[in-house]
Amino acid sequence: MSILHEKLDALFKPRSVAVIGASRKPGKIGYTILKNIIDYGFKGKIYPVNPAATEILGHKAYPSVLDIPDEVDMAVIAIPADKVLDVAEQCGKKGVKVLVVITSGFGEVGNKEAEEKLVEIARKYGMRILGPNIFGIAYTPSRLNATFGPPELREGSIAFISQSGALGIALMGWTYMEEIGLSAVVSMGNMADLDVAEVSEYFAEDENTRVITIYLEGLKPGTGKRFIEIMRKVSLKKPVIVIKAGRSKRGAMAVASHTGSLAGADQVYDAAFKQSGVLRAYTVEEMFDWARAFAYQPVPKGERTIIITNGGGVGVLATDAAEEYGVPLLVPSEELKSKLRETMPWFGSPRNPVDLTGQAGVENYVKALEVAYNSDEVDNIIVLYCRTAILDPLELAKAIVEVANKHADKGKPLLAGLVGGRDVYEAIRYLNRNKIPAYPSPERAVSSLATMLRYKRFREKLLKEHESKA
Ligand code: ACO
Repeated sequence: MSILHEKLDALFKPRSVAVIGASRKPGKIGYTILKNIIDYGFKGKIYPVNPAATEILGHKAYPSVLDIPDEVDMAVIAIPADKVLDVAEQCGKKGVKVLVVITSGFGEVGNKEAEEKLVEIARKYGMRILGPNIFGIAYTPSRLNATFGPPELREGSIAFISQSGALGIALMGWTYMEEIGLSAVVSMGNMADLDVAEVSEYFAEDENTRVITIYLEGLKPGTGKRFIEIMRKVSLKKPVIVIKAGRSKRGAMAVASHTGSLAGADQVYDAAFKQSGVLRAYTVEEMFDWARAFAYQPVPKGERTIIITNGGGVGVLATDAAEEYGVPLLVPSEELKSKLRETMPWFGSPRNPVDLTGQAGVENYVKALEVAYNSDEVDNIIVLYCRTAILDPLELAKAIVEVANKHADKGKPLLAGLVGGRDVYEAIRYLNRNKIPAYPSPERAVSSLATMLRYKRFREKLLKEHESKA
């Protein structure tokens, strides 16, 4: 295990957390953070620190971090900026390993000196800092929600790193509603010490994270080369998906006044992402669509993709999207075609897209999926469905999950696109809950597989480069 990993365990798997500035008053940030830590069921010890209180939310409060009769791994600081440096000094003396500095009023408003002093103090005592100017950190495997965001988080294997506070908080709620499971949410703020690359490096080794998602506004000046180097290593281990905001001229200006980062020329960022294997998404929806695919399904071993559908129209749309996004559709052999023919009515089509027709029932899908999983010609499967009166979407979803689980050892990714009304959304939820990435359109399923293929190709290229160097 690397030194970085050991140090950052104090951030993600602390044994004890002090909340400095834990407030007695509901609605205040220091109150909400403490309440979220308690209510989400943090597994370690919790120490509120507030000189004016003896007890907060059922936990004994201490006048200062130095009065806590125990080791403190992580200190969340939520007191006004002018008091932070003294408290950081006390944390250093106490042997705290990592500071989560919620407080605003540092570099982002031109108070660079205080920010530099904060980093100096941390260096002096060997502490790491997340922030300042952040909404906190959550790590679901530790049942740690040290944020002033929503109290609930859905557990899963997607790590989400956000350089925007408000968007990060909003997406905590959105991902919950969308059934997107997270391993972590990390607010980056001013990145006075820890930055996006280092946190990603931790997740590359984290057994609870399969895919890393990042909302990025900009890197600190002079850190571009290091970003590429680190992210190449991270990408070799796990997919990284980034939304880089501030693409447009006006957007870049907005970034400058938001986090004070250098949005930079978009082409420079684009080139850096390409070099490091980072997958660039353009919308939040796209980022989490792709992340879901990586979180639930294996990385493709090959390129040959089959589409199985009950609707010609969605099959054609998926075919167009496949060509546009770079998903190679396989041309089935005569042998495969004759096996597929047995799964459909005589007027169906065993070509790719495989059209089971609007008359298809659960059995037709199950049989066709069995053929696809068992065929050496097929590497990846996209299953599509249009709501028909004949086939209940939830019944189909249950059958898909069963077949996919039965063939999990084959390592073939399966993604689904279902189109229809309310009951189709229920089926989509069921599939996602059962680790089949499912989307309400064929294009979103294809786009997600295309991204998995892009990642596969990059990884193979990088591995070859490593082998040739060795
Ligand atoms: N040690 C421990 N506790 C202390 C200390 C100290 N040295 N000094 C004061 N306290 C207590 C206070 O008594 C108070 O408790 P009480 O409410 O029970 O009396 C509590 O700590 C908080 O102190 P306040 O002075 O009331 O500070 P306030 O809560 O008003 O503000 C805060 C503190 C929230 C950190 C504020 O300064 C700040 O920075 N707010 C912005 C935070 C933010 O937005 N971060 C970026 C998020 S990202 C986004 O965009 C959403």
